[in-house]
Formats: sequence, C-alpha cells, structure tokens
Amino acid sequence: MNTLLKRFLWIGLALLVWPAWADQFWDLPPAPPPADFGNLLINRQSENKSVKPATFSHWLHRRKFTCRVCHFELEFSMKQNTTEITEKGNQSGQFCGSSGCHDGKAAFGHVAPNCEKCHNGDRSYSNARFAELSRLPHAPFGNKIDWGKSLSKGLITPHKYLSIKPDAQVTFQETLLLESDWIGTPPAVFSHTPHVWQLDCSNCHPDIFNVKKKTTKHFSMVANLRGQYCGVCHTNVAFPMADCARCHPAMSN
Ligand code: HEC
Ligand code: HEC
Ligand code: HEC
Ligand code: HEC
Ligand code: HEC
Repeated sequence: MNTLLKRFLWIGLALLVWPAWADQFWDLPPAPPPADFGNLLINRQSENKSVKPATFSHWLHRRKFTCRVCHFELEFSMKQNTTEITEKGNQSGQFCGSSGCHDGKAAFGHVAPNCEKCHNGDRSYSNARFAELSRLPHAPFGNKIDWGKSLSKGLITPHKYLSIKPDAQVTFQETLLLESDWIGTPPAVFSHTPHVWQLDCSNCHPDIFNVKKKTTKHFSMVANLRGQYCGVCHTNVAFPMADCARCHPAMSN
C-alpha cells in the first residue's frame, strides 16, 4: 500500500479508537510508596502449609545480585507465585538456600529462629532498611532510585553470577529505535547495553521478544501497560510505565 494512504488510514483509526485507548494510558496503577515498589509476598504454598507468606524485596537484593543471578541461574520465574519453591529445596541448597545466598554463611539460613524473617506475611518487613539507599541517585518513579546510574557510577556492585559465569562471547550492544506505526508518536529507545549488563539474553529472547527488530507480534504500548513485553519488568520491578520520557526521550512526563 502506498505510504501516504497508509498514514491516512492510521489517522482515521487513531481518531476512532483514541478515547478508549487513551483511557488505558491514563489508567496507570496507583504508585506504591517507593520502599514498597518491587516487594512481594510469595504464597503459592505457604498458607496452605500453615506458615505465613514469604516476604521478598527486590531493592534489598538487587544491590547485591543482578537479575540474571536469580532469574537465569536460580531459575526464579518473573511472575509471582509461579516458581515451585519448596522448603525442602531451600534447605538442601536450592532457591533461596542456594550456596552464596541464604545458606547460613553468606546470609541467614533456613533454620528455626529464622523462619519468621521470611515467613512473616509483611510485604513491608524490610522497609526500615530503605534508608540505606538514600545516597543513591534519584529518579521520578518506582523506587525513586536511578538504578542505571547507581550501577554505571559504581555506587552498587551486584554480583553477576554465583557459579555460572556469563558467556563473554555472547554479547550484543545495539541500541534500537522502536518506532510505532502510530504517526506522531516519538519512538521508544531500547538500548541493549544496560539490559545485557543485568540480564541473560534468554530472559527476553525468544519468549518475550523476537531476535529481529519489528517482528515481535502484538507488541504495543497497550500490551506493555498490561504487563507484557517491556511491561514484564517495567511494571513492578524496573522503573514503571508512568515514566514515559525514560523510554520515549522526546515525550515529557
Ligand atoms: C530465606 C527465606 C526463608 C526462610 C529463612 C525460610 N523459608 Fe520457608 N519458604 C521460603 C519461600 C520463598 C517459600 C515459597 C513460598 C510459597 O511458595 O508459598 C517457602 C516455602 C515454605 C513452605 C511451603 C512449601 C513447602 O515446601 O512445604 C513451608 C511449610 C516453609 N517454607 C516452612 C519454613 C520453615 C519451617 C522455616 C524455618 C525452619 C522456613 N520455611 C524458613 C522462604 C524461606
Ligand atoms: C535475589 C533474587 C532476585 C533478584 C536479584 C531479582 N529477582 Fe526478581 N524475583 C525474585 C523472586 C524470588 C521472585 C518471585 C518468583 C515467584 O514467586 O515465583 C521474583 C519476581 C520477579 C518479577 C515478578 C513480579 C510480580 O509482581 O509478579 C519480576 C518482573 C522480576 N522478578 C524482575 C526482576 C528484575 C528485572 C530484576 C533485576 C533488576 C530482578 N527481578 C532481580 C528474585 C529475584
Ligand atoms: C530486556 C530484554 C532484552 C535482552 C536481555 C536482550 N534483548 Fe535482544 N532485543 C530486545 C528487543 C526488544 C528487540 C527488538 C524486538 C522487536 O523489535 O521485535 C531485540 C532485538 C535483538 C536483535 C535484532 C536486532 C535487529 O536489528 O534486528 C538481536 C540480534 C538481539 N536482540 C540479540 C540479543 C542478544 C545476543 C542478547 C544477549 C546478549 C539480547 N539480545 C538480550 C530485547 C532484549
Ligand atoms: C527482563 C526485564 C526487562 C525487560 C523485558 C525490559 N527492561 Fe528495560 N530495564 C530493565 C532493568 C532491570 C533496567 C535498569 C533500570 C531499573 O531497574 O529501573 C532497565 C532499564 C531500562 C532503561 C533505562 C536505561 C538506562 O540507561 O538507565 C530504558 C530506557 C529501558 N529499560 C527501556 C526498555 C524498553 C523500551 C523495553 C521493551 C522493549 C524494556 N526496557 C524491557 C529490565 C527490563
Ligand atoms: C519501558 C518503556 C516504555 C515506557 C515507560 C513507555 N513506553 Fe510507550 N512504547 C514503548 C515501546 C517499545 C513502544 C513501541 C511498541 C510498538 O512496537 O508498537 C511504545 C509505543 C507507544 C505509543 C504508540 C502506540 C503503540 O502501541 O505503538 C504511544 C502513544 C506510547 N508508547 C505512549 C506512551 C506514554 C504516554 C507513556 C507514559 C505513560 C509511555 N508510552 C511509556 C515503550 C515504553
């Protein structure tokens, strides 16, 4: 189809669906207090087995370990309550109890007096320690911490692996301009470098994104806002969708 005609069709369609569509944009989830952002209660089995849900805080852990360590090496899934964590596994050196983690040496272990440090049902349990992060550079949303800058300035130095070293041969530093079909929308900029620093390629490829620009099916801003694609991380852990300008540099927040 001729480009001009295609553009006119897009404008028509945009005008038709704009009100419903715009609603989904402004209906962003309410922002939790910065210290609660990224905190989870894991309760796939706990209450069924008569213990309180286990508390987990991303900001507490990501200072010390990259996403890759937990979400690639230890195979925790990026969806709450979907990893089949068992206490037996924890106690025999898997999951939270992996060597270098809650093994009783690097951090408190899986023995009686410690049960309630995790099984307390309190999402905000660690928040008294949030002040430890007050010196990190600020950002407008999420934890209100600029995690990218904290890393690049060496203010935090998370371990990149426990026992499986990232393969130095497999690397990709390209910055992609992700243009939308909606005319008048400033493109989103996706830089591989800061992502690859923290994540394994397999955290994104091929399950979330195709390994070829503009070929991921159903990839759209609405889907992002529903927690798919970029929204897998940029909803509850990495800076959230409200930070339009961080992804679309030509937009203002
Ligand atoms: C470092 C954190 C941590 C500590 C310490 C810990 N747990 Fe857990 N435990 C977890 C997590 C996370 C899960 C998974 C929660 C779920 O899926 O509901 C879990 C799951 C469980 C479960 C449910 C699953 C199963 O295998 O039956 C029980 C029961 C349990 N823990 C008991 C205990 C007891 C008793 C202690 C102390 C001896 C303890 N836990 C110490 C983190 C911890
Ligand atoms: C110390 C381990 C650890 C680190 C480091 C870590 N995570 Fe997680 N993450 C978890 C666990 C455990 C869960 C819960 C899994 C479950 O319940 O099945 C989780 C869940 C998630 C979820 C799902 C949240 C939800 O609300 O459903 C996302 C998204 C996520 N992590 C992204 C990240 C990103 C991005 C990073 C790096 C900035 C990161 N994680 C670093 C352990 C970690
Ligand atoms: C945080 C998610 C994420 C991670 C991690 C990631 N990528 Fe990507 N990658 C993307 C996205 C998004 C695209 C564009 C997909 C689209 O437009 O349909 C892409 C595209 C690509 C492309 C195609 C580029 C082009 O111009 O067509 C290659 C090659 C690629 N990635 C390689 C890698 C490799 C190798 C790694 C690991 C070193 C990696 N990626 C890690 C998100 C990621
Ligand atoms: C698998 C998880 C994951 C996915 C998927 C993901 N990101 Fe990220 N992204 C991160 C993490 C972690 C950071 C570090 C900053 C933070 O945590 O707030 C980050 C940082 C960024 C930054 C800031 C870079 C900097 O220099 O500070 C931009 C921009 C960004 N992401 C855009 C995107 C876009 C666009 C997509 C979708 C194409 C996407 N991300 C998908 C995890 C992810
Ligand atoms: C984490 C990164 C990220 C954030 C934050 C973000 N966007 Fe997007 N946005 C994207 C990507 C990637 C696309 C391109 C999707 C595609 O290929 O169509 C996009 C596309 C769009 C589009 C074009 C429609 C479409 O589906 O292609 C609009 C309009 C838009 N964004 C508006 C916003 C607004 C408004 C905000 C803030 C409320 C925002 N975006 C925040 C990554 C982001």
